[in-house]
Amino acid sequence: MSVKFAAVKGMNDLLPPQIETWQFLEHTARQLFGVWGYSEVRTPIVEDTALFVRSVGEVTDIVSKEMYTFDDKAGRSLSLRPENTAPAVRALIEHGLAQQPLTRWFYLGPMFRYERMKTGRYRQFYQLGAEAYGAADAAQDVELIALAHSFLAAVGVKQVTLHLNSLGDPADRPRYLEALTAHFAPHVGAFSDAARDTFERNVMRLLDTKEEALRPLVESAPRLGDFLSDAARAHFGEVQALLGALKIPFVLDPTLVRGLDYYTRTTFEFVYQPVEGEGALGTAGTVCGGGRYDVLVHQLGGPEKPAIGFAMGLDRLVLLLDDLGKRPAERRPLLFLATMDGALKSQAVTLITALRQQGHQVDFDPRGGKIKRQIERAAAVKARFFAVYGEAEHQRGSLTVKNLDLPDGAPDKEVTVPLDALSQWLVNVAASLAVRPSP
Ligand code: HAM
Repeated sequence: MSVKFAAVKGMNDLLPPQIETWQFLEHTARQLFGVWGYSEVRTPIVEDTALFVRSVGEVTDIVSKEMYTFDDKAGRSLSLRPENTAPAVRALIEHGLAQQPLTRWFYLGPMFRYERMKTGRYRQFYQLGAEAYGAADAAQDVELIALAHSFLAAVGVKQVTLHLNSLGDPADRPRYLEALTAHFAPHVGAFSDAARDTFERNVMRLLDTKEEALRPLVESAPRLGDFLSDAARAHFGEVQALLGALKIPFVLDPTLVRGLDYYTRTTFEFVYQPVEGEGALGTAGTVCGGGRYDVLVHQLGGPEKPAIGFAMGLDRLVLLLDDLGKRPAERRPLLFLATMDGALKSQAVTLITALRQQGHQVDFDPRGGKIKRQIERAAAVKARFFAVYGEAEHQRGSLTVKNLDLPDGAPDKEVTVPLDALSQWLVNVAASLAVRPSP
């Protein structure tokens, strides 16, 4: 009996033609992040579970409910990475790089969270992230935010709003948590089980609750902004002034507490804001989230080292670009060469291979067979031009190239191209069509 397999729920196959959008995002990221001085790092997909417990935080949703955790054969508890900030810090410390005054890194890759699935929320998803270590200055915060902003603009996602908040320094937190607890405590009796649980485990997370019934209470809650130390307040002021100088608009969002425990001072998110309704992402509109984490490097065993970073959800950006109709141009063969069965096939394959080695996108059907079927194949792969490499062409030393891209009813347009001029002809045609250059 045959068994049918399917991908694990929430973990998607990424296939053509949509993969071209992924490649476009990744290519743009590598270009742009390189220009801004960020170097790529790749850390393992599996890490010690304790790394995430110590950094993201034991009582966060991510660690308490969403990690894929297992024991390996040696009995160690390992987890699929739910995010890449902690692994990057681990690598920075492990390789002695935390001693460098300034380090700027970026990463691209899959993360894993056992989340409730919906549009734009998956269990294997991809992040593009950047982390900068060593500068506590507001200029560093703003560099990171401007980098995310520039990337979103470069890939054509413009309808985003930057939400900004400051969570202050660790020393500012206890007084605030006390005030927040006192604010919610008299109402806990009327809370849902989930809200009561959040109240007990991590009261600050109540600020970004999705429960409508809690809205009024959240709105009247004490603001962390009123509890900031003078230094944290001055830093936040500077961040805002610099964003103003760069003409990057933002909204202050005192409820932006983020779902990970390591944040200090600046936190931010870019949220997709369609003109009407919810748009392609439904309620999963946050395409980028990040912030400062000035104590994490030390907390994970490194030196005192301020740091800030962000990560973008690539799955969400792909959905958005699709929805905005911004697919990269389809990859299409420039020329499809039909081959004859027999001795000439080897000549044709040699020619095709040579053209491909020169970077031309030339296609053929390795099965050969009837010319009619090969024309159909050329149409199926959307080749722009078609030619047959037959006995006559071989003798003449030239091909009759037919333009398949003409609208229906237009007279067939054919040109004769000498075989030894074919490569240059393809270069000229590619240039005139402005097709994508070969890699
Ligand atoms: P995060 O807010 O948990 O932050 O994730 C960042 C982004 O990843 C989100 O804004 C979203 O676009 C995407 N994302 C998260 N979960 C999913 C999911 N289940 N499916 C699809 N996309 C998702 C972090 O991960 C931090 N490490 C960011 C950071 C870097 N902070 C400082 N440095």
